[in-house]
Amino acid sequence: MSVLDKFRLTDRVVVVTGASSGLGVAFAKAVAEAGADVVLAARRVDRLEQTARLVEDAGRKALTVATDIADPEQAQHMIDAAMERFGRVDVLVNNAGIGTAVPATREKPEEFRQVVDINLNGSYWAAQAAGRVMNPGSSIVNISSVLGLTTAGLPQAAYAASKAAIIGLTRDLAQQWGVRKGIRVNAIAPGFFQSEMTETYKPGYLESMQSRLAIPRLGDAEELAATLVWLVSSAGGYVTGQTIAVDGGITIT
Ligand SMILES: NC(=O)c1ccc[n+]([C@@H]2O[C@H](COP(=O)([O-])OP(=O)(O)OC[C@H]3O[C@@H](n4cnc5c(N)ncnc54)[C@H](OP(=O)(O)O)[C@@H]3O)[C@@H](O)[C@H]2O)c1
Repeated sequence: MSVLDKFRLTDRVVVVTGASSGLGVAFAKAVAEAGADVVLAARRVDRLEQTARLVEDAGRKALTVATDIADPEQAQHMIDAAMERFGRVDVLVNNAGIGTAVPATREKPEEFRQVVDINLNGSYWAAQAAGRVMNPGSSIVNISSVLGLTTAGLPQAAYAASKAAIIGLTRDLAQQWGVRKGIRVNAIAPGFFQSEMTETYKPGYLESMQSRLAIPRLGDAEELAATLVWLVSSAGGYVTGQTIAVDGGITIT
């Protein structure tokens, strides 16, 4: 087997949450190009159908499942639907997330709870459901953020707390399920990538962050998706419990 063959995901079944926009679309397209069938989950089903066409254009099968990941029953339904259609789940990409920037003294309990409910709790509900059915050799990737590792000049207590917690969740599930289930669990901490989330930033914010970057530009979603393919393929087979920053160097400046 050549080294490039180790990156193939031929006939694997990959579940991607938050596949209706932004990075989730790039993740779904990349794993399909690497050979996987893809289960696409989010709340906006019309947008999931657009992602499904990208997966099918890559010659693979797609299943769309309307899912509010903050609801444990819907997270379970997502995995049940994947099992019913494909009979297996090899990879879960916990990518669904929201970002807010609210000064701490003004943030309402429901605002804080919503971010934690989607970003952290939703990742856990999906991982629990997937962990119950995954076979040895499967893997989970949780999408954290550099905000889980450092600060970036915005008031983001809820987001930063949820993304730091995802790193702890990753470590714990990796040790719980490594020997017992043969499931690898890793996290990716993206820096700044163009998406609907980053479009909500005030004009000039992203530019102001570039002085902290060792690679002074926004990341390309394909660069992030390539890291995902490495982590979930046999090329990443000895990596578990890790958080891989793909961030143009912002966490080292
Ligand atoms: N872009 C960046 O620079 C960057 C940097 C670091 C980390 N991240 C992380 O990367 C992930 C993707 O973000 P993005 O930049 O691609 O943002 P985005 O374009 O806003 O995409 C967010 C995705 O999450 C889904 N989502 C939100 N709430 C959900 C819920 N309750 N249930 C199910 N799906 C839900 C959205 O779908 P629906 O609205 O259709 O449900 C959408 O597909 C997030 O976890 C984010 O924190 C992004």
